[in-house]
Amino acid sequence: MLQLLGLAPLIDLVGAPGLGRSEIAGSASPPGYAQPPDVELILTASPGEIGLLPGAPTRVWRFTGELVRGPASTLQTLPDSCLGPVIRVRRGQRVRIRFRNRLDEPSIVHWHGLDVPEQADGHPRLAIEPGAEYVYDFDVINRAGTYWYHPHPHMRTGAQVYRGLAGLLLVSDSDEDALGLPAGAGELLCVLQDRRFDAGNQLVYADAGPSGMAQMMATMNGWLGDRMLASGRVQPTLDVDRRTYRVRLLNGSNARFYKLAWHDGSPMVMIGGDGGLLERAWIRPTVTLAPGQRADVLLDVSAHAPGSEVRLQSLAFPSAHVGRVGMMMGQTPPTPQGAALTLMTLRVSSARAPAFVVPPRLSAHQAVDGASAPVRRVPLTFARMNWQLDGRVFDLADVAAAETVAAGSTHIWEFVNQSNPMGMEMAHPIHVHGRQFRVLSRAGGAANSLREGIADAGWIDTVVVLPGETVRVQVTFSKHAGLYLYHCHVLEHEDMGMMRNFRIA
Ligand code: C2O
Ligand code: CU
Ligand code: CU
Repeated sequence: MLQLLGLAPLIDLVGAPGLGRSEIAGSASPPGYAQPPDVELILTASPGEIGLLPGAPTRVWRFTGELVRGPASTLQTLPDSCLGPVIRVRRGQRVRIRFRNRLDEPSIVHWHGLDVPEQADGHPRLAIEPGAEYVYDFDVINRAGTYWYHPHPHMRTGAQVYRGLAGLLLVSDSDEDALGLPAGAGELLCVLQDRRFDAGNQLVYADAGPSGMAQMMATMNGWLGDRMLASGRVQPTLDVDRRTYRVRLLNGSNARFYKLAWHDGSPMVMIGGDGGLLERAWIRPTVTLAPGQRADVLLDVSAHAPGSEVRLQSLAFPSAHVGRVGMMMGQTPPTPQGAALTLMTLRVSSARAPAFVVPPRLSAHQAVDGASAPVRRVPLTFARMNWQLDGRVFDLADVAAAETVAAGSTHIWEFVNQSNPMGMEMAHPIHVHGRQFRVLSRAGGAANSLREGIADAGWIDTVVVLPGETVRVQVTFSKHAGLYLYHCHVLEHEDMGMMRNFRIA
């Protein structure tokens, strides 16, 4: 009974093996810490096996969930998927998650897109040892939207995500409820990932095997797979009714960019991005999704013939539109950036459900006006065989003066993806922890077929900066003080140091 009264969390935090006391002492407890949470769950990362391809099962690392308290709808296990459970929470809920590390290496979980206290953000310095538990306590203050969670340990994020550690975290709220969007059977979850398998169906990643030039180049360019997974299954086919679907897309790939389109010419009707609903639907033939980004789209198949198919594809584009290090060096991967791909097939049945009419206005959007905010220039460069942010690489503790901001203050960060005479040029999806931000302007760069599909209209937490571009974003930083991260979401770039701390003072 004491547990329910809220005494347990204090004991747990202090008693958690591997979690330094100094870190606890030095941090503020979340507000209302002694209150019992609305939702409590145990999330365990452990090795497992799953049948992904015909033949031998694939060894993966996966998250499994167990609901301790809260609505049964909080946890949704995806059948036959290597992804972690879908976590569904509502804005305003107080959440406690006990993360248990049953891997054989340190780990820590980050809630990508959520504005949470420092202790709950999953900074790599908070990573726990095998066998240990880390308790996250936070209030859900984000808007309804498609968020996600994944590990964030020092230099091992790419390897851990690649082996299967990732999941969706969906937030709902009354603003979203009011729209009556397709839900339940009318909602499709689609996490896009690419993987490479060996002849025995085992995952192949840059950290295994001989470390030579090829591995190094693959790391600098971002690790690409040649088999496509949608929600943790290899190129699935799903049966759908004749109705409107809400398709929640997440690019959970380590490095691959997608130019998404429906093969039958249905438009991409995007209603939401990283940070929830757009003001109005954004309708285009393609949506560009870089690693880390989400798109909430509507697909109406109510007029499709029973038996017909709609395939989600990534259309071909020149690989130079993402770019790579030294075009002349290393091998071209079997399925390079820009290869045409089929990601998921929807097979239309004869059953009908009402189509959904997209309302002209989806949400009220606060206008952005960066006129008076200070501007910080952040060059994205390649130097000394490393990707860098503002001329620096990651250090667990280091924060520059330019990386210190006041709680709740508004800044403009200008990401400058500098052209480089050596051809060391790539698109980088830059992610800022803690707060959704807005794009003020996008300029420069050569003609690029990915640009038309970039939705700059909504609240986002990850912004694509194409080769040669300068992109200005306006961020109003969290009111939670502490040490947070911003980084490239090409996970190999992040792991090699294209990441920095920023401090909210
Ligand atoms: Cu999705 Cu710092 O991460
Ligand atoms: Cu994040
Ligand atoms: Cu990058």
